[in-house]
Order: sequence, then structure tokens, then C-alpha cells
Amino acid sequence: MKNIQIFAHRGSKGTHPENTMAAFKEAARIGAEGIEFDVHLSSDGEMIVIHDETLDRTTSLLGYVKDCSAQKLKTADAGSKFSKEFLGERIPFLMEVFDWARGNSLLMNIEIKTDKLAYEGIEQKIIDLIRKYRMEDRVILSSFNHQSIEKVKMLAPELERALLFEGIPENFEEILHDKKESGFHPDKNSLTPAISEKAKKLGYKIRPWVANNKADIIRLAEMDVDVIMTDFPEKAIKILKAWQTSD
Ligand code: G3P
Ligand code: CA
Repeated sequence: MKNIQIFAHRGSKGTHPENTMAAFKEAARIGAEGIEFDVHLSSDGEMIVIHDETLDRTTSLLGYVKDCSAQKLKTADAGSKFSKEFLGERIPFLMEVFDWARGNSLLMNIEIKTDKLAYEGIEQKIIDLIRKYRMEDRVILSSFNHQSIEKVKMLAPELERALLFEGIPENFEEILHDKKESGFHPDKNSLTPAISEKAKKLGYKIRPWVANNKADIIRLAEMDVDVIMTDFPEKAIKILKAWQTSD
């Protein structure tokens, strides 16, 4: 039976503060095959791991990441809004995630967050760091902004890339065919067996997001996807194992 991998979405967002080292370490602890996280740029061009464009929802600071210096971002608490237990958890820099990743073999799906704001040069910065840390075989670069993926293709054709979709357009086959990427990352509700089959025929790996309950996880597994992204990786691994052994 094919091995369907579990990627911990924003780390283990369901049980730990999203996009923090605590969440990534939890994903490693419970045996996920990969982590997914999001990257923005600070005012001074550092690569910052956080989901939103602003700091308000998940940290002790307010305002846009793009308007905040790296020094200032280092003072933010990114844990206690999730739970007091995580007070003192910091916003990671991409460099810190890579430093830690040297000690494990997790795959990393790096989402380039250029769908709402343009971060000048973010693609080249991420590529340079991947090369510096020799993480070429460990990363998948994805974005809702397909122009960002186009840039990565030009700058670093050796890196694995994926197209993110929220809702799947009627002409998705044409898009997948023309873009010639290798990863298809649709939202879980839009993915159907027919779409999955068509994407597979075009040579794409299918990694839907984000399935958190048993029915969704099994529905995606039945479509023979390659990866399931989930906020609850420990639970998802158990559900998947039980489903695989019951066959
Ligand atoms: O990469 C899949 C998923 O993370 C995209 O949505 O909003 O959680 O970044 P979002
Ligand atoms: Ca994401």
C-alpha cells in the first residue's frame, strides 16, 4: 500500500501555537513526515515564519510584519495567545527552523506568502538560504501566487515546487499542464476523485490541506493523495494507520 505522508500544518496548529518551534518540535516528536509553514519578510528583509501579514492575532505585538524590524520581532511572544503554557515562545526566523532541521529528516513545505503583499526578493532570499543550508532535497516551495512559483522555477529549477489553490478553477488541467510544476495543493473541500485522477495523470503529487477529522482524512486517503496536511498530526497518523490496516 502506498505511504500517504502526514504534514503538520503550521507545525501542529491544533495542539501547539502555530508556526513556532514548539509546534515544529511536536511534529517531529509524533513522527510526522513533514511540516508546513509560512514565510514573510520583516522591514529589514529577514525571513520570518508566521501565517498572517500582521502580528495581531498570534503574537504580543501589533501591526504588519513588513513594518517591523527583525530586532523588534525577536521580542514578540508567539505562544501565550494560544495558551499560557507556551508563554515565551518566539516567532521563528527561517534560519532558526533550518538550524533545527539539520538534526532531523522532516520535509518542509514552505509557503511563500505573496498572495496579499508583494515582498520584493523573497523568492531569491528563501532559495539562497535553502542552498546555504543544503536543504534542497527537504523542501517544497508553494504559493497561492503562482508568479512566485514561476520565479522560483527560473531561479532554482532544481527545487520542488507546488501550486496552491483555494477553490479549483474549471481550467485547472490547462493550468497544471502549462505550469509543469510537480505539486498540486488544493483545499480539501474542492478535491474530488475525478480532479485527483486528472492531476495525477498530469504527473502531479497531490497534497490537500487541511484535514482534521476522520471522515475527511479517510476521504482523502481513498483518493490516493500523496500527503495530507493537518493541524492534528498525531491524531491523523492514528486514523490513517487504522484505515490502512483495516483494508
Ligand atoms: O499550504 C496549505 C495551507 O497552509 C494554505 O492555507 O491559510 O493555512 O496558509 P493557509
Ligand atoms: Ca500555509
